[in-house]
Amino acid sequence: MSGKLIVRNCQQQDTVDADAYERLKDGVVFEHLLTKPGYRVDQNLFFAESDGEVAGYINVLPELGINRTVLDYAVSPSQNLPAVLPALIRPALKRSKQMGASLTHMGIPVLETEPMAVLENLDFKPVRRFCDMQLNLADINLDNADRMEWQHRYFEDGDEALLSDIQNRCFAGAWGYNPNSVEDTAWQLKVRSNFPEDVILALDKGEVIGYCWTELESGRASSKGLPKGRVYMLGVDSRYRDRGLGRHLLQMGLLHLKKQGRELIEITVDTGNVAAVTLYQSLGFHLFSETVWYEKIMS
Ligand SMILES: CC(C)(COP(=O)(O)OP(=O)(O)OC[C@H]1O[C@@H](n2cnc3c(N)ncnc32)[C@H](O)[C@@H]1OP(=O)(O)O)[C@@H](O)C(=O)NCCC(=O)NCCS
Repeated sequence: MSGKLIVRNCQQQDTVDADAYERLKDGVVFEHLLTKPGYRVDQNLFFAESDGEVAGYINVLPELGINRTVLDYAVSPSQNLPAVLPALIRPALKRSKQMGASLTHMGIPVLETEPMAVLENLDFKPVRRFCDMQLNLADINLDNADRMEWQHRYFEDGDEALLSDIQNRCFAGAWGYNPNSVEDTAWQLKVRSNFPEDVILALDKGEVIGYCWTELESGRASSKGLPKGRVYMLGVDSRYRDRGLGRHLLQMGLLHLKKQGRELIEITVDTGNVAAVTLYQSLGFHLFSETVWYEKIMS
């Protein structure tokens, strides 16, 4: 990097910004940000420029239900990360404070020592570890997966409030879980291009008591060339835990992904979530990467 570094807000109408964001974030759709509830692209997304070229971006994602923002960033590989990242973080922290957050979190893959050093210099502290686990569907027997003893059905239009409610019940108090509004859930469904079968709901006397939400991740192949799928969320109402429901919902979700031609399945979990990690390991999921979550307390 040679020229002067400038950090500026995103210009919503500028296709250069949309293209740069999608390139740096590996094909994620910029347009989706425009409809995200409680979010403003012109105030929450910043770009760093050097010699007129986009050097990186930082996105301030508000999760004010738990008084935090989450910062998501990328710096172009041709740029000097130790110079660009701090320049991006400064306005992002200012924006977080302006939004009323008392904490900011940033997740960094465990092998990325350069950004970790930047965060530690800026007084961010490591507070949590999440792991990504993988399962090759060729390694699991799903013959009985569609014979669930609990009543169940797939998501239907109009179920957004039910899905939002069961998520909030299952994850209440979990670290980093910001309670969803119905609007947030509808947005998540839209940006993930979900098919109704991607969300399986378990019921007892008509009440939703658990769910498994999968994603096809179409167009994304693993480094081994296998089509990928993801278990995005899995949860069981606390009154119904330890009765085999979580395992069964997960197996149904995996069967659905298999029927859709997915082969390599990923799941992300807090390493401190013993129940979930044990369940995933018991089905053959294994660890393939870890993310360290850093926290900065706003002064
Ligand atoms: C994780 C969760 C879905 C498990 O649901 P569940 O219905 O209680 O799980 P099951 O009864 O099907 O148990 C399946 C396996 O999980 C593991 N497990 C479940 N609870 C456990 C606990 N408290 N400690 C250790 N292992 C546990 C066991 O391996 C168990 O198999 P076993 O009964 O043969 O020993 C549930 O605890 C939950 O909703 N937690 C909150 C939301 C969450 O953390 N979701 C996962 C986020 S990635």
